[in-house]
Amino acid sequence: MPRTAIIGTGFDVPERVVTNDDLARWMDTSDEWIRERTGIEERRWVEEGTTGAAMARRAAESALADAGVAAEAVDAIVLGTLSPDHFFPGTGVFLQRELGLRDVPCLDLRAQCSGFVYGLSVADAWIRVGQYRTVLLVGVEIQSTGLDRSTRGRDMAVLFGDGAGAAILQATDEPNRGILSTRIHADGRFAETLWADASSSARHPRLSVEDLEAGRHFPRMDGREVFKHAVRRMPEVLGQVLEAEGLTTADLDLLIPHQANLRISQMVQKRLGLSDDRVYNNIQRYGNTTAATIPIALAEASREGRLRRGDLVGFVAFGSGFTWGASLVRW
Ligand code: ACO
Repeated sequence: MPRTAIIGTGFDVPERVVTNDDLARWMDTSDEWIRERTGIEERRWVEEGTTGAAMARRAAESALADAGVAAEAVDAIVLGTLSPDHFFPGTGVFLQRELGLRDVPCLDLRAQCSGFVYGLSVADAWIRVGQYRTVLLVGVEIQSTGLDRSTRGRDMAVLFGDGAGAAILQATDEPNRGILSTRIHADGRFAETLWADASSSARHPRLSVEDLEAGRHFPRMDGREVFKHAVRRMPEVLGQVLEAEGLTTADLDLLIPHQANLRISQMVQKRLGLSDDRVYNNIQRYGNTTAATIPIALAEASREGRLRRGDLVGFVAFGSGFTWGASLVRW
């Protein structure tokens, strides 16, 4: 059976920088509060007219160029997002069209912050069984258009940013290269702990004036509950993939955690006993871009020369659902 190698990475973020001081002009918050609780200094928010599919295309083109393969080599698209451009169809088909591709299947994955790790699991399975040779995996979010920018929404609005990250996954027979193990999990008992209630087909109508007035279309979360579960589940699932390969945290060269909140990443790092140089964080500059955080961080780490052939790289994510997962890759 072939293994799945990550042969190229890319990302795209909007040009518009929104600082903590910008947010403090719209809501009762401060640069100090945001930095202290989340580590975030600034994030990127799209201007009107930019779609998720357009950012995904730019990230994908950058990943294709990095891999040195043409778009026509892509056999399937997997796209993780919790903020699709439209209720339906999924953003994947808009991305396919933007890339000028025809006929390749497009799978939109709804695993929120764990979208990239879930996507790795699906794409790896397809590649290993020989169904597809080259898969484009993208995480993309436009969070900014769905946030309550008033003081009522400040606990959520300060956290999120927009962006896209992409990876080209391809079958390889090279020894000592590729995805080693992936584990994904979910626990639906916590579905409403971090969610957006409306608009929804469970509501009659899907979106009412009353929903809008009550702000039910904005995301809501119990932040303390999310924090508690995230810092337990991420070390746990990373331990599972390491154990499956007979490895330990001492073997890890670089961990790329989902960029939920710098405090969460730091606690995960502490629990795993990893030094600063073995954990990659960029939430300071981009905020939490949900399904896009890991592929954006991966692309940046790659461009900064942080990944060498043969390195053991770990991805770990936790988010709405709850969903969580981890993957280990020999670079
Ligand atoms: N600016 C200023 N004050 C704020 C803000 C803000 N942006 N947001 C909340 N506050 C206030 C609250 O109103 C509250 O005031 P009160 O004491 O007068 O009622 C006070 O700050 C404390 O609020 P808490 O919600 O208890 O703040 P907490 O210390 O829990 O920090 C935070 C909130 C940062 C969200 C924290 O719960 C956390 O880190 N949670 C993890 C969840 C997370 O980061 N999720 C990211 C997205 S999910 C994911 O990707 C997995």
